[in-house]
Amino acid sequence: MTATFTIAIDGPAAAGKGTLARCLAETYGFHHLDTGLTYRATAKALLDAGMPLDNELIAEKIAQQVDLAGLDRSILSTHQIGEAASRIAVMPAVRRALVEAQRHFALKPPGAVLDGRDIGTVVCPDANVKLYVTAAANVRAKRRYEEIIGNGLAADYDEIFKDVQKRDARDSERADSPMRPAADAHLLDTSKMSIEAAFQTAKSIIDAALIRNKT
Ligand code: C5P
Repeated sequence: MTATFTIAIDGPAAAGKGTLARCLAETYGFHHLDTGLTYRATAKALLDAGMPLDNELIAEKIAQQVDLAGLDRSILSTHQIGEAASRIAVMPAVRRALVEAQRHFALKPPGAVLDGRDIGTVVCPDANVKLYVTAAANVRAKRRYEEIIGNGLAADYDEIFKDVQKRDARDSERADSPMRPAADAHLLDTSKMSIEAAFQTAKSIIDAALIRNKT
C-alpha cells in the first residue's frame, strides 16, 4: 500500500476534465491541482512584464517562481492567457520546472487529483488511477460557445471551433510531453455523456482501485 493516492486526469480543453477533477477531489477529500493553471500563471507573468513568449531561458526562470498556492482561476482563465500558455508549454525547460512542482504537489497525503495533458504519461506515471477524458472537437466547441453566451457575452462558434482545433494540434503534436492517453488510462468520452454519468463511471473505477490499494 502506498502512503498517498494519486488520480491523474488528462484530456483536451473543454472535455469536462476540470469539473470532473474538482468533483472527485471533493468526494474523496483529496487535494486538487489544475496543472493548466501553472502554465497559465507562467504565461501571464511574462505577458504582464512585457517579456517575449519565445525565450526559453526567461520563461524557465518565471516558471521556477510559480507559487502553486497562489493560482487564481478567475484571473488566469482568459482566452489570451490560454493561448500564450500553450505556446510556452512547448518549451522543455518550462515543463521541467513546472513538472517538478506538480510532482511535489502529488505527494500530499491523503491523496491528490491532478488534471492536465501529461499527468498519466509524464508527471505521475505511477498514479493509482489514470483517466483520459475527451469529447469530439465540435461538442467541445459548442460547450465553450454556450458557456460564453450563457454569461451574456458575444461569441462566434466557427472561430471557437477553429481555436479548439488549433490548441488540440499544438498540444498533441509538440515533441516534449505531447497530449495523449497513457497506455493504462481509462478512456471517458463525454461527447454523449453527462458530467454526472462521467463522474459515476470515474467513481466506480476509483472505488475499485482504493479497495485494491488497501488489501
Ligand atoms: O487546461 P488549460 O487550457 O488551462 O491549459 C492551458 C495550456 O497549458 C494547454 O493548452 C497546454 O498547452 C498547457 N498544458 C500542458 N500540460 C499540462 C496542462 C496544460 O502543456 N499538464
